[in-house]
Amino acid sequence: MTMDNTLTSQERLAELDAEQLSRLVGLVEYDAGSDPFPVTGWDAVVWAVGNATQAAHFYQVVYGMELVAYSGPETGNRDHQAYVLRSGAVRFELRGAVDPASPVADQHRRHGDGVVDVALEVPDVDRCVAHARAQGASVLVEPHDLSDEHGTVRTAAIATYGETRHTLVDRSRYSGPYLPGYVARSSTVERGKRVFQALDHVVGNVEMGRMDTWVDFYHRIMGFTDMAEFVGSDIATEYSALMSKVVASGNHRVKFPLNEPSIGKKRSQIDEFLDFHAGPGVQHLALATNDILTTVDTLRARGVTFLPTPSSYYTDPALRARIGEVRVPIEELESRGILVDRDEDGYLLQIFTAPVGDRPTVFFEFIERHGSLGFGIGNFKALFEAIEREQARRGNF
Ligand SMILES: [Fe+2]
Repeated sequence: MTMDNTLTSQERLAELDAEQLSRLVGLVEYDAGSDPFPVTGWDAVVWAVGNATQAAHFYQVVYGMELVAYSGPETGNRDHQAYVLRSGAVRFELRGAVDPASPVADQHRRHGDGVVDVALEVPDVDRCVAHARAQGASVLVEPHDLSDEHGTVRTAAIATYGETRHTLVDRSRYSGPYLPGYVARSSTVERGKRVFQALDHVVGNVEMGRMDTWVDFYHRIMGFTDMAEFVGSDIATEYSALMSKVVASGNHRVKFPLNEPSIGKKRSQIDEFLDFHAGPGVQHLALATNDILTTVDTLRARGVTFLPTPSSYYTDPALRARIGEVRVPIEELESRGILVDRDEDGYLLQIFTAPVGDRPTVFFEFIERHGSLGFGIGNFKALFEAIEREQARRGNF
């Protein structure tokens, strides 16, 4: 299988070729023939929010996403409204309850604005579900066809951590704007400039002592393999610590870091997430950009708050020595609070936003990769110290 065959329909739509995508998110060659659960790539990140009408506006104006599809009472969906937005190869679906008895209202009541479904495009839904079921997965939606005048989508869903699910979608026989039941809808507001092109990784926070259970879940159920392992002491600050492991699909198109809290002197940021999200869930989405300086400048001008990086981070001689030469002067990174990490394969630039909703839960990372296939382990300590300052300001530390 060549890399080009592994592009999702959304990636082809975004006119990303495999080489560009590989530069953006770091792909590897692999043998799909022996994969028990082949995954083509990300399909959509589905959010339950308190007000999808306003959130859709926000993601267009601030994050530069394009409205492409809609479902709601006008289209026969009396339960909730759903706005489908895209930026490059990234697709978000934002759901907000219309019917007070909607399950979306319950999801929002429990978790606040957050991710309820990390949907994946797969070439064979039935094969994936058969394998997942045989390995003990909870199948939430059995494989079935959805059809309209644009063709047929085959889909199913399996449960993962917390109340999160993975919907599996085969859209190879479908040409509509999103899924049957959704109509094409385009932006009516002046969208901001596009600031990200692809989804790099999606991080899950799980309960203390459960990380290995979920790593094993992705190994057994979905055939994912380990990418990296961070032991607690690597990413401990004086007060709080976490454990993190990363699993990835065969070609690394889909990467899931999984965090659990570990014992620190005070409550860790993972504990805070679990309390305010009321259980495990998606902690952050890493969005790939090929120009993180412009991304940060643009978003900051539109009012996005990023986690501050201590100036000591940039003056630390050990860090300076470790990161070596990067594509811009370090002063350019310092003035924007952008972090750098380097490993044997190259380096990456990254920055994290403040939580996107009212609760201190889900946030975004922006990442610009230059060969590195890592996640910024060298930055975890600096990052956590910054997060803990914010946590202390909220009185949750
Ligand atoms: Fe990340």
